[in-house]
Amino acid sequence: MEIEMLRDIPMLAGIDDEGLEEIARLATEFTAPAGQVLAEVGQPGSGLFVIEEGTVEVDLPDGSTVELGPGEFFGEVALLTDAPRNARVRARSDVRALAIERRTFGRLLDAHPTIAVAMLPVVARRLGGH
Ligand code: CMP
Repeated sequence: MEIEMLRDIPMLAGIDDEGLEEIARLATEFTAPAGQVLAEVGQPGSGLFVIEEGTVEVDLPDGSTVELGPGEFFGEVALLTDAPRNARVRARSDVRALAIERRTFGRLLDAHPTIAVAMLPVVARRLGGH
């Protein structure tokens, strides 16, 4: 995977090329067809996803939906809280994304705390119900 692609991801802003190369090595790129469920409520969180292309739909417990697109991430709540997935996430279009395993994510946060700082306002908004 080219690190050029990682430069456009806001949660990775401030990570130098060496760090981006490390992330590129540790992340797994995958594609999913429109309609595929990528996270299911109540399931354990095995990893975090960063969207590269396409959009996903997050079906919230209150019946509303939120659309996420390129550069945005999902699946972080279960990793950060050790709770099961709190929403269903489905590919709205064909999607290309990065998957980062739970343990890898922990190691990346240790090595690059700016990732956590960049994610914090987004996570706070999500958990705050906005
Ligand atoms: P997780 O609980 O691991 O799995 C479901 C994911 O949906 C969750 O992590 C978040 O990444 C995402 N999610 C939950 N609530 C919201 C929200 N209000 N806005 C955007 N994404 C959300």
